[in-house]
Amino acid sequence: MKHLQIAIDGPAGAGKSTVARQVAGRLGLSYVDTGAMYRAIAWKALRENLDVHDEEAITQLAEQLTFSLHPQGIIVNGLLLKEEIRTQEISALASAIAKMPGVRRILVNKQQEIAARQSVVMDGRDIGTHVLPEADVKVFLTASIEERAFRRYKELKAKGIDVNLDQLREEIKHRDENDRTRKYAPLEQAKDAVLIDTTDLSIEDIVESIMQLCRHKMGGE
Ligand code: DC
Repeated sequence: MKHLQIAIDGPAGAGKSTVARQVAGRLGLSYVDTGAMYRAIAWKALRENLDVHDEEAITQLAEQLTFSLHPQGIIVNGLLLKEEIRTQEISALASAIAKMPGVRRILVNKQQEIAARQSVVMDGRDIGTHVLPEADVKVFLTASIEERAFRRYKELKAKGIDVNLDQLREEIKHRDENDRTRKYAPLEQAKDAVLIDTTDLSIEDIVESIMQLCRHKMGGE
């Protein structure tokens, strides 16, 4: 049977990972968080005292890592990484690493290998455009910068992390700018992706919209 591919892209804080995880759960598919792979490289580089701006060293590191899926995080070379890759420091480093063409090439390959073995809901920035250009369903999620910063603020607060909303908004803007303007595989909506503005939508609403697209595609209702 052909594997199903559902691609969910969009900027930071648009709700991708929560929604993608739930859609995967409802359809019984594997969820692949590609941002976690860029984050894991940043985390590993810090651990190994590598210069995160040394493109050659970081590309070599990316090549050496093996990734496998886990419901609570990502397993990298046998080690389960969870909250440690969600810090603001790692967010900033991952965004810099995501600009490196060599790293992207390696990760895109690894992501395509994962999707070749099983049906997936994959989220990221370039899934519909580069990783799974033939995906069965493509969704591009957006939300206003205010709303995205506020969601991140609530998320960090809930974890007991004290953050400043204005500073968060600026960080998100900066990351967006990085992701949208990088030369290689920038964040952009695939021509055949369905755009969903999530600013005023609940998680359930977004999940339901995507489920409808999936049912339609699978010849259901
Ligand atoms: O979604 P996230 O915040 O966990 O992603 C971390 C960084 O990796 C972010 O700066 C965007 C980048 N990224 C990317 O360039 N391509 C992807 N497919 C996924 C993430």
